[in-house]
Formats: sequence, C-alpha cells, structure tokens
Amino acid sequence: MIHLAEPNLTGNERKYLNECIDTTFVSSVGAFVSKFEEEVVRVTEADFGTAVSSGTAGLHMALKAVGVEKDELVCIPSFTFIATANAVMHCGAQPWLIDIAKDSWTMDPDVLAQELQEKAEVRDGKVYHKSSGKRIAAIMPVYTLGMPADMDKIKRIAAEYHLPVVADAAAAIGARYKGNNIGKIADVTVFSFNGNKTITCGGGGALVSANQQIIEKAHHLATTARCGIEYEHDMVGYNYRMTNIQAAVGCAQLERVDEFVEKKKYIREYYSKHLSGIKDISFFPEVEWAESACWFSGLVLSDKYEVKKVCELLKEKGIEARTFWKPVHQQKPYVNEERSEMKVADNLWKHVLTLPSSTGITEEELEQVVKAIKEIF
Ligand SMILES: Cc1ncc(COP(=O)(O)O)c(C=O)c1O
Repeated sequence: MIHLAEPNLTGNERKYLNECIDTTFVSSVGAFVSKFEEEVVRVTEADFGTAVSSGTAGLHMALKAVGVEKDELVCIPSFTFIATANAVMHCGAQPWLIDIAKDSWTMDPDVLAQELQEKAEVRDGKVYHKSSGKRIAAIMPVYTLGMPADMDKIKRIAAEYHLPVVADAAAAIGARYKGNNIGKIADVTVFSFNGNKTITCGGGGALVSANQQIIEKAHHLATTARCGIEYEHDMVGYNYRMTNIQAAVGCAQLERVDEFVEKKKYIREYYSKHLSGIKDISFFPEVEWAESACWFSGLVLSDKYEVKKVCELLKEKGIEARTFWKPVHQQKPYVNEERSEMKVADNLWKHVLTLPSSTGITEEELEQVVKAIKEIF
C-alpha cells in the first residue's frame, strides 16, 4: 500500500531517542525540549517560542494567552480540522464560523469584514456580537494545507476591531507569506507535529511569536502555572508540556526541514504536471501572496465523480487516498454556532481528494499513483 502520509524517520531520530533513555531524561525537562524550541523559532524566523504536547493544546494556550475568556467568540474558518474549533471551546468560548475564499481555501477576509459589520458593534473599544451580547475576543485564520491565509487583509480587519490574530499554522512549517517566513505575521502562530505532519514529534505542537509576553504566558499556563520549583501555582494551569522524547524526534526531524518541504513541493508539482489536462480534475489552489508548504497534495474532482468511490478504486490498486475536512458547521457539536453563509465551504469539501504525499515517497510510487488515476479517469 502506498500510504497517504507516512512519517519519515530515517535521520537521527533513533540516536536522539537512545540519548533520552541513556540519560533518563524522558519527561518534560531535557535538553531536546529547549533545543527543539530554539529550532522552531529559528526555522520560522520568530523571536520566541514554546513547545507543547499537541497542536490542539498549542491553539488552546495561544487563545488563552491573547485573552480569550469564557462566553466569548472567536472567528475561525469553517473549512478546517475540527481541532481549531475545539480549542475555542476548550476556553469556554464559541467559534464564529466564516466561509473560505474560493481561490485560497483560507478564511475569506471579505466575508469576515461583512459579518463583523452586520452582526457586531463596538462599545468602549471592545467588539460585541449584537444579538448574543458576547464579546468577540480573537480572529483565528487557518493556513489550509500549509498555505498562509490572506493575512494583510485579515490583520487590517483585526486592527480595525482591536482584535488579536492567532494563526492556526498546524501544517504550515516551511510556508512563506509575501516572501517572508511565517513566524511573526500573526500575534501568535501555532504548529502541529502530529504523525501526519511534514515534521513530526509523534505528537506535539509549538507556539511562536514576536511577543515575549504571549509566549511566556502560554508556557506558564501549559506548565500547570507553576511558580519556581516549589509546589506553588498562581492560576489553574494545564499539563501540556512536550516531553524530551517527543522533542528528540522533533530535533532530528527539523534537521531535515528544508529537504522535507522541498519534497512536499515536488510531490505537488509532480501530480499537477502529470495529471493536468484530464477532464474532471483540477488541483489545489495557489495564490500570489504565499508559498504553500504543500502539506498534502491531491485533486479536486468534478460533480461527475464521487470522492469516496475514487478512494475505493485507488485502494484496490494499492493506493491510499482520502476525503478531506468536512466543514465545522456541518459537524454535530457545531451545527448551532454563529456562522456566515457557506457558499464555498458547503460545496468544496465534497470534491477534495488527498493523494499519497509522504516525504519518503519514491519516483516509482509517484508514477504508480499517476498511472492509477489515469486509468480511473
Ligand atoms: C488545521 C489544524 N489545526 C489543528 C490541528 C491539531 O493538531 P494536533 O493533531 O497536533 O492536536 C491540526 C492537525 O491535525 C490541523 O490540521
């Protein structure tokens, strides 16, 4: 079977894991954790960073660190992995679901602006949702499939309403925005190092920022809000620290980040080069403002084809392919949340097919995928 996203663990992972065992540093204190934090900051060209146990934990801590409180609202795109919305709920807040733009699959700034204009009001420098009276506390765009959202426009709206911006960049390590790295575009940017990501720690996450206070607050909260080495805690914190074992894997992975991101881009190019011109197939979006980290590659199928059926046909040929995110507003826990019209998200998600995109995929395997798609279509 050619898998969708297999971790590539052929570097120093084993060596560094052995070091954890030999030194007995297997828990949340250890040289690899600090090294991993430094490396994530360096690779994303941020100023400060902290590692956590997962991307979801990272989003939760980022929202808390920018001041999201119980009974508030956070604007997020509906076309995302459910963890984006879950992190909002973990704060006791609720998501306000916004449609995506057709040309980028990221939060549509025009829809966001229109929603805020119609449904929100500013009082004493704060923004409130008119019908519920809830305060709007943050905007959280998602870098869909590793592609930065239209951040200048989103940041302009955020500035108008005095709202912080948290970027869910779960799969976007290696992406660029208007020629720059992505570590300092939003107030805080969050990565996932889950097993299916370009860089994995097995599981893990990190927050980076140009703002030291945000990172320190997130770090403090994620470390049970412990003050010093005595059992003194000044807030209700969380046990969200990354372990030295996770960080050991992550350090080995980050040594190869450029190679891995290059390979992801190569896979994207390979599929578009070899499959373009086939009727009923188009490709994932490209935009002029960003360079995607190309987490997954795949196809957009016309109405004529059912994605699940194509997945079954590919499976018979030894190829793993999958559907992609079902929008949050269609998920059971979120059907009643505030939302914009979903002209793009409602239609798009049914047409997206993800194809094998592992960084370890060989030329022969890529050829096999292309051959199989050509046969089916
Ligand atoms: C857009 C997005 N947000 C958040 C997450 C959650 O990250 P994690 O699985 O590390 O908790 C993911 C990961 O799969 C994701 O794709």
